[in-house]
Amino acid sequence: MPTAAERHAMARARRLGAGVLGSTSPNPAVGAVVLAADGTPVGEGATAPPGGPHAEVRALAEAGDRARGGTVVVTLEPCAHTGRTGPCADALLAAGVSRVVVAVPEPTSPAGGGAARLRAAGVEVVLGVEQAEAEDGALGAWLTGVREQRPQVVWKVAGTLDGRVAAADGSSRWVTGREARAAVHRLRATCDAVLVGSGTALTDDPQLTVRDADGVPAGRQPLRVVLDRRGRLPSDARVLDDAAPTLVSAAAGPRELLAELFARDVRRVLLEGGPTLAAAFLRAGLVDEAVVHLAPKLLGGGASLVGDLGITSIGDALTLSVVDVTRLGGDVGIRLRAYRHTGGSRSAESPAATGGS
Ligand SMILES: NC(=O)c1ccc[n+]([C@@H]2O[C@H](COP(=O)([O-])OP(=O)(O)OC[C@H]3O[C@@H](n4cnc5c(N)ncnc54)[C@H](OP(=O)(O)O)[C@@H]3O)[C@@H](O)[C@H]2O)c1
Repeated sequence: MPTAAERHAMARARRLGAGVLGSTSPNPAVGAVVLAADGTPVGEGATAPPGGPHAEVRALAEAGDRARGGTVVVTLEPCAHTGRTGPCADALLAAGVSRVVVAVPEPTSPAGGGAARLRAAGVEVVLGVEQAEAEDGALGAWLTGVREQRPQVVWKVAGTLDGRVAAADGSSRWVTGREARAAVHRLRATCDAVLVGSGTALTDDPQLTVRDADGVPAGRQPLRVVLDRRGRLPSDARVLDDAAPTLVSAAAGPRELLAELFARDVRRVLLEGGPTLAAAFLRAGLVDEAVVHLAPKLLGGGASLVGDLGITSIGDALTLSVVDVTRLGGDVGIRLRAYRHTGGSRSAESPAATGGS
């Protein structure tokens, strides 16, 4: 059983992991906290970009000698293998910690075994502490990759109260206000790639970069991706500028595109529309999360949030589950989930999981 201090540290570790989401792929975004023997937090860390130290190693470095006899609280089981960095289990043993509290057991066989190695050396290991929370958080992207050999897909859309993303004349700037648009930039920063269909690229000519409120671009930019099978994207499209790398793909469909992105180490994709491409992903059952921003406006006409899903009866409606609702200035942000990861296999939380292709 974890102590109250360990639960508190686990919540902090999840936030640390979330803070580096978007910079660690193809590695997991892990967070770790070191508690001294008396339960005081003495070090914390999160996964560095690929090739850099893992979360536990960074947290131990910060704790120094105070880790001896203490506890490491970490969102993912420490690895026992030597990849680009040494095994974390060995670092924990060298630091002399007496207890390790883990949220998610390591699901990949080459890296698995950290807990066994630690236990063999006399360290107490507790696995599965607040596992669902960790899996639904920053580890979700990496776990989707491990389990399904594809990136996690987050579909983002901004619409009016009556579910329109553009007016009848095609104008769509802006549906939502400043706060909601800033939230989109923060969301982009947590992703390895940002994707639109050729229709959106042609109509809106978006730049698809991560920028702050003053328009200053972030240091790290996700890969920009346009799915354009007919080669309609003009050479002067803003998405082709040198502000960030861009992939123009002619992949046959969502699954093929995700395979292409996975091979490039992309583990989390933000699908920014439009309605036609979003419908293709939803029909293929390839949307894991949705972020819907609703503006308190009515248009009564114009393109709707999502294109044809092939559904004709209310009983067949694709149903998502609400994770949370937030106010974004005058708008409302809703985060929804289509699938839930439960241990080794994916189980349906809604009919979305059985969406045909
Ligand atoms: N408010 C918002 O959040 C938001 C976000 C995005 C867009 N929008 C609005 O949405 C409108 C554009 O939407 P749209 O539906 O026309 O464009 P879209 O969904 O961005 O792009 C559709 C195009 O994507 C390509 N595509 C590639 N693979 C596909 C596949 N497997 N299935 C379907 N399409 C595939 C197709 O062109 P090819 O066959 O040439 O590949 C298709 O014509 C604009 O008015 C824009 O303002 C609003």
